[in-house]
Amino acid sequence: MLAIIGGSGLTTLSNLDVAHREIVRTPYGEASGAIVIGQIGGQPAMFLPRHGHGHTIVPHMVNYRANLWALHRRGATGVISVASVGGIRGDLQPGEIVVPDQIIDYTWGRKSTYYETLDTPVTHVDFTEPYDADLRRRIIEAAATLSIPLKIGGVYAATQGPRLETAAEINRFERDGADLVGMTGMPEAVLARELGLPYAAINVVANHAAGRGSSANGIHFKSLERVLHEAMGQVRAIIEELVDSPNSCLPMGMSV
Ligand code: HPA
Repeated sequence: MLAIIGGSGLTTLSNLDVAHREIVRTPYGEASGAIVIGQIGGQPAMFLPRHGHGHTIVPHMVNYRANLWALHRRGATGVISVASVGGIRGDLQPGEIVVPDQIIDYTWGRKSTYYETLDTPVTHVDFTEPYDADLRRRIIEAAATLSIPLKIGGVYAATQGPRLETAAEINRFERDGADLVGMTGMPEAVLARELGLPYAAINVVANHAAGRGSSANGIHFKSLERVLHEAMGQVRAIIEELVDSPNSCLPMGMSV
């Protein structure tokens, strides 16, 4: 069953026919809330709002370990993470939907592994490709079927938050090779990998990153709410299409 983790802008999944909600106990404490279990287009799916049902949990306080563990325990076979981001790369305008293919992790102090107790052997998971290729392909294919434009590929910079970045930090991230910036992509992605859960992200550009474009003199989310809302509608449609056609192939001539 596919699990969707929603972030700012996607706190509920309106196309999920809710059957029930389940609080899953975990060895890592409480997840962000009850897992909402139901169907999307007749196919089973589950949803967890990353910041809690009341949207009160800040990025560095999200219990990523409990969230991923709970979804896995409840039978998730793959996770699609939806999150808003700031656009660093010039072509990433507000409202653009991106399927990133790489991560740089600038977060600190977050519980980022399940392998830290003395009763588990030292384990180094392979993370060369942080996102699952097949799940990415399915996202890209679903968007193509619906003729929803996507930016395929991009380096996601995971920052600590909850404050936004300085213009100089964004310049540094760009020099490092980052294209987009968000606060929740890590350790979520690596914890999914440790659990063996295929994981991919759909990021919606909510704003130009600090010091860039319309954020040259500061980031003003308010004026961008409508753009984000519309793009999240498209993300819902992509997810519905993807859940509905789990095993189809990419259209001819399309590469990931
Ligand atoms: N920076 C970090 N996280 C974000 C941003 C940003 O500009 N926009 C949305 N999430």
